[in-house]
Amino acid sequence: MTVREHWGSRFGFVMAAAGSAVGLGNIWRFPYVTGDNGGGAFLVIYLAIVLGFGLSLLMAEMLLGRTAQRNPVGAFRQLGGRAWPLVGYLGVLTGFVILSFYIVVAGWTLAYIGQMARGLLHSRDPDVLGAAFGQFVADPWQPLLYAAVFMALVAWVVTGGISRGIERANRWLMPILFVLLLVLVLRALTLPGAGAGLAFYLTPDWSRVNAGTYFAAISQVFFSFSIGMGTMLTYGSYLSSRENLPRAALTVGVLDCLAAFLSGLMVLPAVFAFGFSPSAGPGLTFITLPAVFAALPGGDLFGVLFFTLLAIAALTSAVSILEPLVSYFIDEHEVSRARVVAVASVVCFLLAVPASLSFGPWSDITVFGMTWFDLMDFLANNLMLPVGGLMTALFVGWAWGRPALKALSNDGDLPQPWAGVWLWVLRVVAPIAIVWILVTNLS
Ligand code: PHE
Repeated sequence: MTVREHWGSRFGFVMAAAGSAVGLGNIWRFPYVTGDNGGGAFLVIYLAIVLGFGLSLLMAEMLLGRTAQRNPVGAFRQLGGRAWPLVGYLGVLTGFVILSFYIVVAGWTLAYIGQMARGLLHSRDPDVLGAAFGQFVADPWQPLLYAAVFMALVAWVVTGGISRGIERANRWLMPILFVLLLVLVLRALTLPGAGAGLAFYLTPDWSRVNAGTYFAAISQVFFSFSIGMGTMLTYGSYLSSRENLPRAALTVGVLDCLAAFLSGLMVLPAVFAFGFSPSAGPGLTFITLPAVFAALPGGDLFGVLFFTLLAIAALTSAVSILEPLVSYFIDEHEVSRARVVAVASVVCFLLAVPASLSFGPWSDITVFGMTWFDLMDFLANNLMLPVGGLMTALFVGWAWGRPALKALSNDGDLPQPWAGVWLWVLRVVAPIAIVWILVTNLS
């Protein structure tokens, strides 16, 4: 066996894990899902899930990886045996499903860089911007071309390996992204009429909450935290045992929530200021942000910068969606990195074709009332990730159990009583909450 690669530094690991967490999930998905689910109340439920068990699961995955020093399938086999590796296989499969729609949206961001640069989106009229977006995504060829370019970029970074590829890209790009987010939040908040959006976002209206709100929130937490499919496990497996995991998990979690919160602050006030509808769905960010840029001096330049960074945030996340399956094939089947990446990228692209066509020629083809794109999003976020997370919680809490505490406390990571709280969250709180939400929504 070849020696396992490791992160070059602690900062590098935390930035890579944060780079995985912060992506389209925060900037594209979070604002429209929040808009769709009534604003403030959704935000509160989201944070409750994060604190209730999201952070604990994030840490559990990192710990699994660090201890086993293996890919998801290998880690569950080594620490659990029996049927547990199935959880790893589910993760590998989930990676394909997520990438199939992720690269489509990432492709849109690439296209928008070009459109901003050419000044094509210079308008504050919701109808004009909505039509421009609708027309672009409905085209059968162009979005696919951009998705292919994006997939090629992902393949290029992942082929570069851990510290030279993934880590190096993240160290620089994450800090720049945050600065830019802040600038845009400031502009959005000072737009005339932004107050209504702010109130919508920050005042919980509990009358709009139903079982579906919890379902949407739990899916969003899993997706945004990159948990439930072995991504954080895989990133943890490139750690040496000295990392302080609770601190790393907390930093990643806080950065991720901050990015999501700021994205809401950037998008929702603008939605109201310009008279868009907060439940415009997947197009929301792409339609509202150009209006914000048009209201900024030098807005087109900001637009180019912003979509560039969004594409980069998407890149660092997409890389982390691909890495678990790459590490699986390298560890378990001794295939070369370059080879797995090449084959997997082609498969992902082929799966992206129907997802992209869902916005145009195939928009009428539906399964269970969902287009292919929506179906993939639903399968991955509402089913596969929560089930993967549930199994991971049960595994670490019960099957691994006490030795997990030992693995954590080896280097004095988490003082009592927190270690005990963590274990019981995984044993009881997370499983009950996840099962309850899944059952009430699916039955
Ligand atoms: N967390 C990423 C985002 O918010 C998406 C992701 C999901 C990454 C699952 C890895 C695993 O964009």
